[in-house]
Amino acid sequence: MSKPQVVVTRRIPHAGLELVQEQADIRLWDSDEPIPRATLLEWVQGIDGLYCLLTESIDDELLDAAGPTLKVVSTLSVGYDHIDVDACTRHHVAVGNTPGVLTDTTADLAIGLLLATARRIPESIDAVRRGEWTTWKPEWMAGYDVYGSTVGIVGLGRIGTAFAKRLQGFDCRILYYNPEPNPANADAVGAEYVEMDTLLAESDFISIHTALTEQTQHLFDAEAFRKMKPTAILINTSRGGTVDQEALYQALVNGEIAAAGLDVTTPEPLPADHPLLQLPNCVILPHIASASYATRARMALLAAENVIAGVKGEPLPYPI
Ligand code: DGY
Repeated sequence: MSKPQVVVTRRIPHAGLELVQEQADIRLWDSDEPIPRATLLEWVQGIDGLYCLLTESIDDELLDAAGPTLKVVSTLSVGYDHIDVDACTRHHVAVGNTPGVLTDTTADLAIGLLLATARRIPESIDAVRRGEWTTWKPEWMAGYDVYGSTVGIVGLGRIGTAFAKRLQGFDCRILYYNPEPNPANADAVGAEYVEMDTLLAESDFISIHTALTEQTQHLFDAEAFRKMKPTAILINTSRGGTVDQEALYQALVNGEIAAAGLDVTTPEPLPADHPLLQLPNCVILPHIASASYATRARMALLAAENVIAGVKGEPLPYPI
């Protein structure tokens, strides 16, 4: 009996590829760069399963191109804003993601970004490299203390809670905002539920951990920045779309907030000549929050398990 046909849209960690290969015939886009859309639309015709990344838009056009054989879309990511889940449901295509396994790795990076931004670490490294370290100067490269500060978390889900847990070690007061309070998570990390406006007004640092949805698109806009402290720092490891970048640029230039640390932007990659990259008070990373070898391997395995179950018509172990 012939094996199911699976398209894998990128070079992925070996463990994941091996697992899929045992059960399916793979067509692999064997590159670190994205598969061109036209190629993807051609490759998906008549396949049983699609193993994709967050860089591919999974929409009606793609599902129509794949046709009725397609049973599953499995993304190597926990976020799934690149997938039109309603369209998949209409096409009877199951959708799976990789929850849980990247929580701690992402929370670690969020702490790293928070410290890097608050204590001006990248700016300091650049200054040393440029030969600007002339002597010890009392206020040179002075930043903001994380310990003892008030940190507002938008989205106290798995990653937000893991981030809060780490902040307990910094003796922070932790506020959070969710559409609905989440007492189970909040109690575990001593977080206090507040309305969004209170979080904006009282936080020294705000970290975004919410999914990108219609409700959270540009949640951080000009009005939100005006409500923040002029010394506040915004950290984003969720999705670039939660922040209105034009408004953020103005807020950083006009001193409405002190700094921002972004692991996610719109678009990705951010063009090297983007205005935000000219600002010393904006630290930008290339969407690496879950990028540890171990975590990326675990994500690849979960996505493999999803696609294998899906092509067999079985329930996905990690369904959306
Ligand atoms: C995800 O999985 O959604 C992250 O953004 C990438 O790890």
